[in-house]
Amino acid sequence: MRAPTRTLTFAAVAGAAVFGYASVIERNWFALRRFEVPILPAGAEPVRVLHISDIHLTPGRHRLLSWIRSLDALAPDLVVNTGDSIAHRQSVLPLLEGLGPLLDRPGVFVYGSNDFYSPIPHNPLRYLWEASSVRHRTVPDLPWAELGAGLAAGGWMDANNARGRIKAGGLDIEVGGVHDSHIDRDRYHQIAGPTDAAADLRLGVMHSPEPEIMDQFAADGYDLLLAGHTHGGQVCLPGFGALVTNCGIEPERASGLHRHPLHGDPDRPWLHVSAGLGTSPWAPVRFSCRPEASLLTLVPRIG
Ligand SMILES: [Fe+2]
Repeated sequence: MRAPTRTLTFAAVAGAAVFGYASVIERNWFALRRFEVPILPAGAEPVRVLHISDIHLTPGRHRLLSWIRSLDALAPDLVVNTGDSIAHRQSVLPLLEGLGPLLDRPGVFVYGSNDFYSPIPHNPLRYLWEASSVRHRTVPDLPWAELGAGLAAGGWMDANNARGRIKAGGLDIEVGGVHDSHIDRDRYHQIAGPTDAAADLRLGVMHSPEPEIMDQFAADGYDLLLAGHTHGGQVCLPGFGALVTNCGIEPERASGLHRHPLHGDPDRPWLHVSAGLGTSPWAPVRFSCRPEASLLTLVPRIG
């Protein structure tokens, strides 16, 4: 075999091996991330918040559903789902069954664009250069209302452009949330206004971590912001991290626990971005970016 042919053959085999790993192994290699967030009043007991996002459920993902169901063993005090839960019209019931006992716990949810519009075929590499909003249509074809009714049936708060109060882990929590900005359904003005200093915690929830929305949450005094959407970059460079976020936030905060803004006032809100549990069925790969859920243990502030 001549050298150029050998090189091409090697590249093809290596590419197939990487794709196989990313689509079969890593995409089903679920991780639980744990973070401690010093955010509660002095003397408060720790409170566990389970953050799930971007499940993108399609039929047949039994391993994913059974892993989600197992998360109830963590005994979270609060569950927050930041959207993109489904990717198929027959996914609502399986999703609700997968969430199972988690739906009986206090919870909050917002929608993502993919809860409204079924995924359409595209070049998976388009994820690297094109914002998802341009691919969306105007007439929803997924059962988003059925999804919302199912999530709310056990008492989860629908936080899409809504503000309210919930009790979880002994805390009085003020919650504000926005709908997905990628389909122009976010209406921050409907929830705008200073938060209640008398609440034990002020929680802001959104699908896509857009800096201009998070600036408004921060200005209104929210303590903790939760978002998804980025998939953590989905295809990352080992040792470097995310290349893209598919939204306004920079790759450095594509996933994990940070502050918003990244630098500034020491009292600015904490921000947790989930890398999510799934992918679009038309880009079924994750590389150096395992699918994840996060358990945030809220503890008293330091000092
Ligand atoms: Fe997503």
